[in-house]
Amino acid sequence: MFSQIKNTDLILAPMAGITDMPFRKICGRFGADITVTEMVSARGLVEGSEKSFRLLYIDEDEKRTGIQIFGNDPQVMAKAAKIVSRYRPEFIDINAGCPAKKVVKNGSGGGLLSDLDNFENVLKAVVENSGVPVTCKTRIGFADDYSDEIIDVIYEAGIRKIAIHGRTVKMGFKGVANYDWCKYIDKFPDVKFVLNGDIDSSQRAMELIERYPESNIMIGRGALGNPFIFEKIKKAMRGEPASDLSYEIWFDTIKEHYDLMLKYYGDYGLILMRKHVGWYLNGMHDSKRIKDFIFRSNNYEEIIEVLRQYDRD
Ligand SMILES: Cc1cc2nc3c(=O)[nH]c(=O)nc-3n(C[C@H](O)[C@H](O)[C@H](O)COP(=O)(O)O)c2cc1C
Repeated sequence: MFSQIKNTDLILAPMAGITDMPFRKICGRFGADITVTEMVSARGLVEGSEKSFRLLYIDEDEKRTGIQIFGNDPQVMAKAAKIVSRYRPEFIDINAGCPAKKVVKNGSGGGLLSDLDNFENVLKAVVENSGVPVTCKTRIGFADDYSDEIIDVIYEAGIRKIAIHGRTVKMGFKGVANYDWCKYIDKFPDVKFVLNGDIDSSQRAMELIERYPESNIMIGRGALGNPFIFEKIKKAMRGEPASDLSYEIWFDTIKEHYDLMLKYYGDYGLILMRKHVGWYLNGMHDSKRIKDFIFRSNNYEEIIEVLRQYDRD
């Protein structure tokens, strides 16, 4: 039906505090073909920060997982690329989009887009020192849209896979993602572009997949509490009818997510899991009562029992 689709890889967007090993595995189970770690500070790695090194961990049975780094200093980024390459990720991704104030004010993340000369040096430093393919995830501009220039800079640095979130850095997460930049896709037949921003349903994904069949789709917030979205899109791509999510799969997924969180973080995993379970419960009947209970409990068995008995219909 969609024989024109050349590459069906679905990608889980990197999200700080969210795309850790447990969540990447859960999304992988439902069809995310490629996942990316949370962003890791290049300086943190070079200075030996334990917290930064912990973020590099990729489990043996994970799928194709890349490690995302951020920074503004070409030399530090070069050293970080060497360190990260030793972990043999599928690729190293350069963050050129993070809008957080403390990141941007250092000229890192989205801040890279306000100085394209330094941006180019950063990109080249990583490409020259990486032992694995390098990709870049960026936005359409800092305060306005100059995506054509940004793509040129990334291309000139030798990068052939570019993810673009269709907002400016200044927009943060407000407004609507703008896909005008896609008009440049055909200019670069040797680049794999990744479309990102506000893809929160299989319908929206299919609109973009049909329109840009050579590109990949990347999903962030649409996967929160909803790793099932990848399977829904995969089904739509095969032309199969959508089916309702069963209570069993919903419950088993949350339980597995809890188990992975405990395995990875110890008891602290119960606390970190609260936000995820809040998302899993979003929009469900009587969910406030269940959330209130779970957010107060530190007892795994008790939480699982409450979820087991919860009839979401
Ligand atoms: C909580 C949160 C954390 C994020 N952390 C990162 C990050 O570490 N690196 C990055 O490149 N983008 C990060 N993003 C941006 C997402 O990867 C994505 O570009 C953005 O959310 C738009 O896609 P969406 O509409 O599918 O969520 C983050 C987004 C959210 C909501």
